[in-house]
Amino acid sequence: MESFRPRVIFSAAITLDGKLATRSGDSKLSSKKDKIRVHKLRSKVDAILIGKNTVKIDDPLLSVHNIKKKNPIRIILDSNATIRSSSRILKTCSKIPTIIAVSKKAQKKNLQKLEKFPVQVIVCGNDTVSIKKLLGILKKKGIKNILVEGGGTANWAFVKENLVDEAIITITPYLVGGMTATTLVDGDGFSTIAKSIRLKLKSVSKMKNEVILHYEN
Ligand SMILES: NC(=O)c1ccc[n+]([C@@H]2O[C@H](COP(=O)([O-])OP(=O)(O)OC[C@H]3O[C@@H](n4cnc5c(N)ncnc54)[C@H](OP(=O)(O)O)[C@@H]3O)[C@@H](O)[C@H]2O)c1
Repeated sequence: MESFRPRVIFSAAITLDGKLATRSGDSKLSSKKDKIRVHKLRSKVDAILIGKNTVKIDDPLLSVHNIKKKNPIRIILDSNATIRSSSRILKTCSKIPTIIAVSKKAQKKNLQKLEKFPVQVIVCGNDTVSIKKLLGILKKKGIKNILVEGGGTANWAFVKENLVDEAIITITPYLVGGMTATTLVDGDGFSTIAKSIRLKLKSVSKMKNEVILHYEN
């Protein structure tokens, strides 16, 4: 039976102690080789999704480098439509298709600012972006699979609704600590292991000082 939503694949590089970044937001964890692997993975999906804080802190392009393939559609979770005009995502949106997912509470002036850019704005959810609704809309647009690339808050939005089909996680050799450092999945978390998502280990590969874990639901 065909699903109502695209396949959701988590992709991240984490420290040995499970963080996505240090407490100041430094997330330069991956080796060159791992970055190449990630770009190959990106080239195989229809879309890449991240949360608004990742745009603010990392200012990523989310493009595919050094591979002659079409860039996946970039999707940003941004309830208030506050993404900066100077962000690399907006600066490149005439070249790489971009969707900004906002909620009904997004202010008119913010939406008007977005109108100046060739981006598609999807309004779904009252206060925050409704992930289930968004996935349904994306599926109708022909998006069959999505790489969810964080951060921890965006990841939790998928985990809490059991919307994770695969997780491809690079464990990097750093121990960074910090109670406020973003982890792979933040949010409220589940209260018991019984309520949590349990994935099956599909493969483990070693790349010099890193390990890549591939789990499936
Ligand atoms: N190592 C890695 O692979 C990696 C990858 C990605 C990010 N990171 C790091 O992660 C950190 C950022 O993570 P973060 O957890 O602070 O933020 P985030 O997940 O990037 O963004 C969270 C924001 O997304 C918006 N959002 C809209 N709808 C949402 C929904 N339904 N559920 C959840 N969020 C929604 C919310 O802001 P609004 O309410 O304003 O919409 C929320 O505060 C950065 O330091 C970055 O460097 C690391």
